[in-house]
Amino acid sequence: MKIGIDKMAFATTDKYLDLRELARARNVDPDKYTIGIGQDQQAVVPPTQDIVTLAAAAAQKLLTPAAARRISTVIVATESGIDNSKAAAIYVKRLLGLSDFVRTVELKEACYSATAGLQFARGIVALNPQEEVLVIATDIARYGLNTPGEVTQGAGAVAMLVSRDPRVLAIEETSVSLTKDIMDFWRPLYATEALVDGKYSTSVYIDCFKEVLTRYQQLTGRPLADFGALLFHLPFTKMGKKALAAVLGDRTDGTAERLRQALTASQWACRQVGNLYTGSLYLALMSYLQNGDAHRGSRLGLFSYGSGAEGEFFTGILQPQFAENILPLTPALRQRQRVSVTEYERLFDEQLGMNPADVAFTTENDACPFVLTGQQDHQRQYRAN
Ligand code: COA
Repeated sequence: MKIGIDKMAFATTDKYLDLRELARARNVDPDKYTIGIGQDQQAVVPPTQDIVTLAAAAAQKLLTPAAARRISTVIVATESGIDNSKAAAIYVKRLLGLSDFVRTVELKEACYSATAGLQFARGIVALNPQEEVLVIATDIARYGLNTPGEVTQGAGAVAMLVSRDPRVLAIEETSVSLTKDIMDFWRPLYATEALVDGKYSTSVYIDCFKEVLTRYQQLTGRPLADFGALLFHLPFTKMGKKALAAVLGDRTDGTAERLRQALTASQWACRQVGNLYTGSLYLALMSYLQNGDAHRGSRLGLFSYGSGAEGEFFTGILQPQFAENILPLTPALRQRQRVSVTEYERLFDEQLGMNPADVAFTTENDACPFVLTGQQDHQRQYRAN
């Protein structure tokens, strides 16, 4: 039985920052951000948005009443959770109007956990082929003002329906996971911004990619020529370029050129929203499928990485109806409003964060379909907009 991704949708905030402007405000050469890091714009998060509102917005796009009835489980993968106990999936389930008879859970392992969610969903569908699983990767990548990581912030969610006979990507059996106890990026319970050793994290990422790919090739005997594309977790687009270069070197043959072109297509969306943490790999997949030379029957390799650290390399075969079941990325990106650096800094400081007080936000400037209206008695308040 084929099992995999049946449909995908993406949501981000309705505001963005031009990174050339940020570079000027930080006294940095703009080329460092746009070429050296490979980012052009970044999603800006107003206090009325969080991982729950973004997750619900992405999932709502792919739900028809019939699809909603088939969902048995909602998995929300995030590393920017809003509660240390209650699963964000419960709020999302309520905002989407799903049946009470669904299973809801939240998964965490830095930027990796959506891949665990996808694999767990495969297991659920294998046991219960009539069921579908809604997997949502949702995050706000927040490093702090004036930090080296600031340029690699971002926000958004990717929602995926996992089913039998999937219409986008049938996931293949062989995958390779690798876990090592490494302190390259983490966020203690008392912190709203991550602690990161940025340079170390990039080298660990590359080592992890080479290790899982080598093992995958030992297990399957598949050369790189067997792949239509290699897709990467993209904390910033240069990271994918570095990882691909680590295995291609200076090769100029047809395979190498195809994989480089596919990478460029997969980076298109990330350049405009920044790091999605758990969702970045899956946004790269959507971006490639909408901008690249993707063909039905083609084998795609996906590298998932989460600091801490865990990596996984897995593959899938593109299905004939993939194009119709990837909801377009451009409306979410085109409808955004550009904000100044001053406005971005104001919104950054207005996030609810660790504030225990009652708060009521003004939501009239937020055009997203779901909003966080504030906090009452330590409870976050959400509603459709
Ligand atoms: N024009 C073009 N490129 C320039 C430039 C300019 N004027 N100035 C610098 N660059 C290049 C550098 O050569 C470097 O390229 P390289 O990595 O290919 O060598 C790149 O821009 C970044 O510059 P660098 O000084 O090394 O960056 P930094 O100290 O500001 O830190 C990160 C960059 C990514 C480490 C930092 O943003 C970070 O910590 N991010 C969060 C962690 C993260 O995303 N980790 C990824 C793994 S999960």
